[in-house]
Amino acid sequence: MASGLCIAVVGATGAAGQTTLRILEERKFPVRELRTFASERSVGKSVTFRGEPVAIRRLEPAAFRGVDIAFFSAGSAQARKYAPMIVKAGATVIDKSNAFRMDPDVPLVVPEINAHAARGHHGILACPNCTTIVTVMPLKPLHDAGRLTRVIATSFQAVSGAGVNGIAELREQTLAWARGEPLVPRHFPHQIAFNLVPAIDTFGPDGYTGEEMKLVNETRKILELPGLRVAPTTVRVPVFTSHSIAVTAETEVKITAAHARDLFERFPGLTLWDDPARQRYPMPVAVEGQDDCFVGRIREDLSSPNGLSFWVVGDQLRKGAATNAVQIAELLLRS
Ligand code: A2P
Repeated sequence: MASGLCIAVVGATGAAGQTTLRILEERKFPVRELRTFASERSVGKSVTFRGEPVAIRRLEPAAFRGVDIAFFSAGSAQARKYAPMIVKAGATVIDKSNAFRMDPDVPLVVPEINAHAARGHHGILACPNCTTIVTVMPLKPLHDAGRLTRVIATSFQAVSGAGVNGIAELREQTLAWARGEPLVPRHFPHQIAFNLVPAIDTFGPDGYTGEEMKLVNETRKILELPGLRVAPTTVRVPVFTSHSIAVTAETEVKITAAHARDLFERFPGLTLWDDPARQRYPMPVAVEGQDDCFVGRIREDLSSPNGLSFWVVGDQLRKGAATNAVQIAELLLRS
């Protein structure tokens, strides 16, 4: 019998699903058989894997018989509807949506940070929100060195976070602007080209958005710090790929800028780009296409004795989504 696993990718036509296929290829994940799924309207179309076309199938229980791992990036409603059925068919689901992240029975995993959490899964493992992943990567070594007490985080989130429709909208509005035509919002609540939209997801009664509360709650769960104080602001920006986050972290024990540089440099999955004299710091266009999260602009907080400010950028479709999901699958393989 051929070696390797039977892998399903649900949402294979979408931005995260397409990136998952690329990353499975790049990391030479042992795929013996690939089954791809999307919405009803895509059934019969195909996607490409290892240079070969793979037909999109209909989402139904029989199609998951024999599947070992299913990568799910088709949204929360679909995950709630289909993931339990896929688990029942015998597969382990790695879900990219918000559906199960805060379920106490579902591990929420960033492999460099809490690989141990994956061990206790009951068939579903969740991948955190893309902004949360990029933010927690540098927070973990700071916490290990000085115990985090407070985090202030402001995100600058690319349109890729809103999937293929978000990417298409920025492109269309930019072309319309160049032609002198009106910019019509279809997917985002306001014009996204040449604008910033400080509202991702719906507003709660306290004035925070769903995206902001994901950053608060998921950071606490991943770092196992239920009482961590987090002040979030999340903003959609006219960038195609890669999320950037301006973070100020306070710790019980002071961490100097030099110490933080050293900690970041040694943490797996982080790359330090912090050379202001040479104008070297992470930016979305420089980070796009890479798996690490990039940290720079590291400086001690002028307003708080134990505060440290920095800037972190990660490719939302890779470490913020597909790479993290494939890393979780690699953890499962190793165990
Ligand atoms: P489709 O291309 O057929 O719409 P993105 O996040 O980039 O917008 O991608 C969302 C992914 O989820 C796409 O692959 C999309 O397929 C898929 N999808 C959307 N709705 C459903 C559904 N009801 N069932 C299965 N897949 C879905």
